[in-house]
Amino acid sequence: MENTPIAPKKRIFSAIKPTGDATLGSYLGAIKNWVSLRDEYDCLYCIADLHALTVRNDPATLRRRVLEQLAIYVAAGLDPEKCVLYVQSHVPAHAELGWILDCYTMFGELSRMTQFKDKSRKNADNVNAGLFTYPTLMAADILLYQADLVPVGEDQTQHVEICRDIANRFNGAYGDTFTMPEAFVPKFGARVMSLSNPTSKMSKSEEDANGCVLVMDSPEEIMRKFKRAVTDSDTVASPVYYDKENKPGVANLLSIYCAATGCTMESAVAEFEGKGYGAFKPRVGEAVVEMLRPVREKANELLKDKDALVSIYTDGAAKAAYLAEKTMRKVRRKVGLTERPRY
Ligand code: TRP
Repeated sequence: MENTPIAPKKRIFSAIKPTGDATLGSYLGAIKNWVSLRDEYDCLYCIADLHALTVRNDPATLRRRVLEQLAIYVAAGLDPEKCVLYVQSHVPAHAELGWILDCYTMFGELSRMTQFKDKSRKNADNVNAGLFTYPTLMAADILLYQADLVPVGEDQTQHVEICRDIANRFNGAYGDTFTMPEAFVPKFGARVMSLSNPTSKMSKSEEDANGCVLVMDSPEEIMRKFKRAVTDSDTVASPVYYDKENKPGVANLLSIYCAATGCTMESAVAEFEGKGYGAFKPRVGEAVVEMLRPVREKANELLKDKDALVSIYTDGAAKAAYLAEKTMRKVRRKVGLTERPRY
């Protein structure tokens, strides 16, 4: 019998930086989506602690968040037997390739990045070089593993774009070295907006903590935040309908509801036909509570056994480093670095 060749699985890479406690935004926009890709692809999911250093962190808090984020990955369904789960700083090749790619990225390109402009406006007192070269380190993350697909929220697509530009430039100069990655953005939940300020992204750094739901929040906390969510003062009999332009608060709650329950926008809107915000907001809150409950409980369970988490990230780092080194050997040779001696 003839052997039908089995096409190798495509590779996925993604990461979240632990600059704050994990939010509903990163859960819906990233993690939940990662879980659905787990079986079909060869996946690496990283905790981008080097990227977190672009802002000031309390060292103990940063260490706590790294472990907590790992616990959430596993609790959400990212099985460490199936995916490579690891911490960015444990694989030094990220920083090494990041530097090399800095030398193939133009000052002008980096200056035009929306997130850089945004963040430097917000952190005017700490516009450090790491904030500027954030996209090249992110490109290194992706290109090190020859990733085909990069599942990200909408706000990160520009970073995947510049990664492609860098890869193209490098491949153009030295011949095929890096796989050309593509961004993969989920339909709903790609951009969860703040509950108190629905025209800006739900973010751990926003001033009003009520606008941001955390994965580890208690059910009471989640309900309180949803009940306070900003909608609008529409007084029609049926104020719950999808109009992103004119009703951003309601549109945000509706997309969260769809992402949390798996229902379509049509059926969500039909469900709230004739109902007011008083019924709508708690219902969205409940859906989120039920979605996050098993994740929070499992994560808390995992956090009780630190050794087990350490062994997960140790195993992950070994697998990631093996793959990264394969790419690095090619890159070093192509750019003209001297072969690394054994020492
Ligand atoms: N910048 C991403 C965020 O803010 C995190 C990240 C770092 C990332 N490296 C990446 C995402 C590589 C995708 C691919 O959440």
